[in-house]
Amino acid sequence: MRRFSAVVLAAGVGKRIGFSIPKILIPLCGKPMISFVVETLKSLNPENLILVVSPQAKEKIEELFGDSVQLAVQENPCGTGNALLCALKQFPDLKGTLLVTCGDTPLLKKETFEALIDYQVLKKASAAVLTAELENPFGYGRIVRDRKKWIKKIVEEKDADSKIKKIKEINTGTYCFDLKELEKTLPLLTQNNDQKEYYLTDSLHLFSKWKKKAVPLLISDSDSALGINTLSELSRTMNLLYREIREKLMNSGVLLVDPETIYVDAEVMIGSQTILYPFTILEKGTVIGSNCQIGPFTRVSNSRIGSEVVIQNSVLNEAEISDGCSIGPYAYLRSGTLLQKKVKIGDFVEVKKTTIGFSSKVPHLSYIGDADIGENVNIGAGTITCNYDGKRKYNTIIEDGAFIGSNTNLRAPVRIGKNAVTGAGSVVIKDVEADTVVAGVPAKVIKNGS
Ligand code: UD1
Ligand code: CA
Repeated sequence: MRRFSAVVLAAGVGKRIGFSIPKILIPLCGKPMISFVVETLKSLNPENLILVVSPQAKEKIEELFGDSVQLAVQENPCGTGNALLCALKQFPDLKGTLLVTCGDTPLLKKETFEALIDYQVLKKASAAVLTAELENPFGYGRIVRDRKKWIKKIVEEKDADSKIKKIKEINTGTYCFDLKELEKTLPLLTQNNDQKEYYLTDSLHLFSKWKKKAVPLLISDSDSALGINTLSELSRTMNLLYREIREKLMNSGVLLVDPETIYVDAEVMIGSQTILYPFTILEKGTVIGSNCQIGPFTRVSNSRIGSEVVIQNSVLNEAEISDGCSIGPYAYLRSGTLLQKKVKIGDFVEVKKTTIGFSSKVPHLSYIGDADIGENVNIGAGTITCNYDGKRKYNTIIEDGAFIGSNTNLRAPVRIGKNAVTGAGSVVIKDVEADTVVAGVPAKVIKNGS
């Protein structure tokens, strides 16, 4: 493939979506929209990879990509033609072949960009435009071809008459230009159109007027040309991406029982022979080992799950779960939960900022917050760590082998020593020595030493 530079137009405001963050930063399957096109282009090793961004998005884009991309800022979003002109002014040394694409068409494939570049070279054209045929072309620029089947012009929906609106071949917004030719057109663009914007698409009309060759390349996979301008296109794109992710998972040995009900974000990793049951959502930052059973009705975000873990009907956020744990149904494991191997968390249990040691159990109806729990501890039903006095949070420590009776309240800060026992219904307000039994309200020592 010919050497090329790439420019991604990404400075638009996203008026039609109306979110407060710039459109190209909206996450799709846990990843900002713009990352998809940037990663695809990077895999083609362009000589320069330039993103045209708005002043509002600049900082976030720098954070995302560091110096792996170059930025051109478009101060005022007055059209795709102006956006590209801004890039060329800010990078005057560019030459040769220029691939131009949009930040809001994230599904386009590496092979498609390659084919477009090859086609422009093969046809010795001033420009090659990637086009698609859509059953419902509403909203896109329509391709008007001349007698030679070259591009005569591209007409935007808002400028189209009823005859042009019937054309089903659309502009995907991706082009490969001979830069020298392109440069002649950009300063001549005007805002004489419905949106009062400088349309890059008008460059193609100039080529046609000047008898320069601009050729369309029609792609077969029209879904991948989907542009995101409305919330319904955003949602459709997400669904196509989720479908792709499901296929990849199934090809890598993960079983999805009823795939259409399962949503896995883009960079989630899952080991083989893991089974995902219906209505499972696995979000950004999550890693799951092999031989696990996750779901049904489970949502896991930004968590690390070992192997041979079973999680049913539960919600996990920023938790770390070691091999062989069993969770749920109906558990809520919040930020800072760390379960060592073979821990059991049962039904209606909430855990946050807590480490639970090997083989310990919290089987039912408990709140465990700001605690450090040793190995082989049994926490009875209804146990509560009273970690908050209305002003501050305090820690609870439960040492190895302790047995916490049902319905115990542990008023933090408090420590329960090794192998100590609390009777059912105790309210523990003082530390309990190792091997000691306490009971009552407030809990008193009943038996001391082993
Ligand atoms: C554009 C094309 C249309 C094509 C469609 C494909 C033009 C005039 N129209 O329309 O023919 O069918 O894409 O999806 O080019 N942008 C800037 N600065 C601006 C305006 C836009 O950087 O001043 C960026 C946007 O962030 C976006 C891209 O350019 O990523 C396309 O802009 P958008 O306003 O979405 O154009 P469409 O109306 O979709
Ligand atoms: Ca668009």
